[in-house]
Amino acid sequence: MNPALSQFGTQMSQLTGVRAIMKDIIETLRNSNGRKFINLSAGNPVILPEVEQLWRDCTQDLLASQEYGEVVCRYGSSQGYTPLIEAVVKDFNQRYNLSLSDRNILITPGSQALYLYAANAFGGRTVEGNLRQIVLPLSPDYTGYGGVTLTPEALIAYQPTLEIDEFHHRFKYRPDFSQLQITDQTGCVIFSRPCNPTGNVLSDEEVNKIATLAAEYNTPVLIDSAYACPFPALNFAPMTPQFGDNILHCMSLSKAGLPGERIGIAIGEPKLIQILESFQTNACIHSSRYGQAIAARAINSGALAQISTEIIRPHYQDKIEVLEQTLDEYMPSNLPWFLHRGEGAIFAWLWLKDLPINDWQLYQELKAVGVIVVPGSTFFPGLRGNWQHKHECVRISLTATEPEITKAMKRLAQVVEKVYVAVNNSQLPVNSY
Ligand SMILES: Cc1ncc(COP(=O)(O)O)c(C=O)c1O
Repeated sequence: MNPALSQFGTQMSQLTGVRAIMKDIIETLRNSNGRKFINLSAGNPVILPEVEQLWRDCTQDLLASQEYGEVVCRYGSSQGYTPLIEAVVKDFNQRYNLSLSDRNILITPGSQALYLYAANAFGGRTVEGNLRQIVLPLSPDYTGYGGVTLTPEALIAYQPTLEIDEFHHRFKYRPDFSQLQITDQTGCVIFSRPCNPTGNVLSDEEVNKIATLAAEYNTPVLIDSAYACPFPALNFAPMTPQFGDNILHCMSLSKAGLPGERIGIAIGEPKLIQILESFQTNACIHSSRYGQAIAARAINSGALAQISTEIIRPHYQDKIEVLEQTLDEYMPSNLPWFLHRGEGAIFAWLWLKDLPINDWQLYQELKAVGVIVVPGSTFFPGLRGNWQHKHECVRISLTATEPEITKAMKRLAQVVEKVYVAVNNSQLPVNSY
């Protein structure tokens, strides 16, 4: 059967960004005929024994408690399970000296849902037919933002400026405030901090500048803190979460070991929270209460914040260091390769300036030597215009083991050298890869 689809149906039945390329990766792995690949494409966090044990202990505690029936045998409020809301309020008030109440919190089934609610509640067509934009102030950013709006033309991303350290082969994106436009047409602003795919952490000053620009037009700013402190604390550079009247601080417990339970948390002004809560009631009623009940325990005991800084953060920080050292040692120093500063998240982002082939062709070349990365062009949702840079980057996941990362980076260095040298010597036509 081939049903006719609405405009929304067409939009929502497509896979966008990285999900589209995952199909190719899954097929490659399935048809590998016993060939071993080092898969550096994964966004799934590593199952760390201490983290798994934390969730096991919380589950056992829940199973043994009187609360169990209340949790799994009943519907609850759309806003979220009260003990989890209370745990978040208490933790954030103490930790960041805030005065939050339960009215400032919304629990969602994963944070992806939160971006879908916000993008469509604040962005898209108004009842008068005007287009309210969803602004991504710094592109590249999370590929999932590409699929959340029912009005794709509302999504608009801005090209950043690049801070380049030629000598050390490093670079960093900065928001380009001379281009960024937040106006009375802006419905909301979204960015991830730390950023998936780049590991970039916008400075407190940059965040406040964006929030101030948006406040002038009463525009909500969603700070996607899926990798931020206090959990999972996947920031390797210092950062302070920023709060404010128009800021929605959006968290996820996925990278803190609970991706299967789908827990997102929004902290913000009650009016914004109410709008998103109503959206949620219409969409799915509420998030799973089992996940919320174990999350409440892990936050209340302090174990989640502690495991985040003592286990989760060092695990990925060690990996990025191994990756940096290997690239520094094996990448040809005369080639214009630049690694984004590893300030957080679970990925490295490599830019190969003036790469003679495009990122998809490089992805194929790497597959041929048993290494799977993600082509970078999938991470520029909403960015219009021709920017060569979009086709010169790859995302490398830090979820593989250290020996795998080392081996893969050595192979990558060889492939990159071959690609630049072959084309520069004109041994191969540019499009032969
Ligand atoms: C930056 C960012 N935001 C949001 C999400 C969605 O996370 P979840 O829906 O599991 O909370 C992800 C997932 O990888 C992410 O990397």
